[in-house]
Amino acid sequence: MVIYRGPPAPRLLFVGEAPGKEEDARGLPFVGRSGGLLDTAIAKASWPAEAVGVTNVVMCRPPRNRLPPGAVEACHPWLEQKVRLLDPPVLATLGGTALRALVPDAPRPLEAAGRWYSWEGRPLFALLHPAATLRSRRFSQRWDQDWETLRTDLPVLPLRSDEGATFRGPPGRETL
Ligand code: URA
Repeated sequence: MVIYRGPPAPRLLFVGEAPGKEEDARGLPFVGRSGGLLDTAIAKASWPAEAVGVTNVVMCRPPRNRLPPGAVEACHPWLEQKVRLLDPPVLATLGGTALRALVPDAPRPLEAAGRWYSWEGRPLFALLHPAATLRSRRFSQRWDQDWETLRTDLPVLPLRSDEGATFRGPPGRETL
C-alpha cells in the first residue's frame, strides 16, 4: 500500500491518482517520473519543504496501470480519513481522477485546471496530472501556467509552529 509522503501536518496536500511501478516498489507516492515533475514545480515555490504532503486517491498499484472499476470508490473512505487526519488547510488535485473524487461536480480537467474549488470547506486548487505534460507541449505549457497561478495565490505557507505568521490563502480566503 502506498499511503503518503510528507510531514505529519502538511499545509498543502497534493492528491494524485494511483501509484505506478516505482511508487509500488518504494511504498511512496510520486517518486517516479511524475514525482520528479511535481517536485521540480514545488521547489520553484518558496514554501518550506515540511509544508507539503503528497498522496493518491487509490492506494494500490492498478494492474497494467489502469484503474479497475470500483477502485476509486473502494479507497474513498480512506482518502477522506487521510485528509481529515492530516488536516491540511489547502488541497491541490493532480489530474481528473483526483478532481472528480474530491469535487464530483467540477468541470472536465482541462477546463477545471488553474482554478479554485473546495472540499469540506478547504480551498482546493485543480492542476493537470504531471504525466500529461509528457504527452503534449500544450499540456506542459498549461501545467507551468497553472503553477504560476498557484504560487501567486499561495505566496507563503507558514507551518503550524510559526507563531503569529499570516497564512495568505487564495483570493477571497485570506483568513485560513
Ligand atoms: N501518478 C500518480 O497519480 N500517483 C503517483 O503516486 C505516481 C504517479
